[in-house]
Amino acid sequence: MIPARAAAPGKVILLGEHAVVYGQPALAVPVAGVQAVATVTPPAGPKAAAGLWIEARDIGRRYRLETARPADPLALAVQLTLEKCAPGAAPPAGTLTIESTIPIASGLGSGAAVCTATVRALAEALGRPLPPAEVSALVFQTETLLHGTPSGIDNTVIAYGQPVWFIKGQPPEPFAITAPFQLLIADTGRPSPTRITVGDVRAAWQKEPARLEAIFQAIGGLVREARALLADPGLPLVPGAEGERGAAGGGLGRLGELLDINHAHLRELGVSSPELEALTAAARAAGALGAKLSGGGRGGNLIALVAASTADTVAAALLRAGAQRVLRTTVGG
Ligand code: PMV
Repeated sequence: MIPARAAAPGKVILLGEHAVVYGQPALAVPVAGVQAVATVTPPAGPKAAAGLWIEARDIGRRYRLETARPADPLALAVQLTLEKCAPGAAPPAGTLTIESTIPIASGLGSGAAVCTATVRALAEALGRPLPPAEVSALVFQTETLLHGTPSGIDNTVIAYGQPVWFIKGQPPEPFAITAPFQLLIADTGRPSPTRITVGDVRAAWQKEPARLEAIFQAIGGLVREARALLADPGLPLVPGAEGERGAAGGGLGRLGELLDINHAHLRELGVSSPELEALTAAARAAGALGAKLSGGGRGGNLIALVAASTADTVAAALLRAGAQRVLRTTVGG
């Protein structure tokens, strides 16, 4: 093994979560301000501990691959990478260290990011770097372990490190956003495992299939319109004043409206929460162009689309309304 280091960003879903599990499109973008980093270090010398050690710094665990707990996604990521890059070989000796600044269970893709960084670093250490599609396919298997029935959107956007248009079961389409825009990502401070909300939406769908299908389709329509807006080179420029909501704000104003409508549909699906309602309302009242929960919901993070001129005011309002942390990120460009 040779020393190797790889990083993977966090992600947010712009529009389309939950409906994406039922075949509708979704749009997701990487978030560069937070990341997971994996480092592979060969043994320091002949006296170094034998075997492959996994050191997950953020959760304070260090253990040998062979002694990993069942259903350990990092160990699965390691095993899948070894099978892919060094089939039949014994696990190499060394240490795989994982560190992440991505908050856990909050819709920012922390699980997929640590596994993506792991797969990439180990593949490089074995002299067989993998392309994004192969990294994504391996990480999808770890997502299944974590989330039950994932759509695959998290592993895709994180492994590609680019905005993606995603439909379950189809090859993902990474795409360029022609004009950059700013998002605030605000943490409710309440962790919310995606497995639970995905399971609850499934139970609701089994009980009332027609009502839920109609909501999924409405969400799909919003995602399609957003994609058309994002591919429009004039997005933030035409026509109307910067920072205006709705039609008066041109493409960016309409994108904000689409976020608001998507949030209302997610509330109908039962995945909002009092915190998410209070924070999205505070963001809108402070001048955000639109705001919605992002990811599994019930907690985790929300996103607020802001004009450059209102970003500070909206961030301050979110903190006053109880957000635990507000990240600012530029999407596209
Ligand atoms: O991992 P999260 O919390 O960002 O949620 C993933 C998005 C869902 O649509 C809720 C689930 C999925 O697998 O697509």
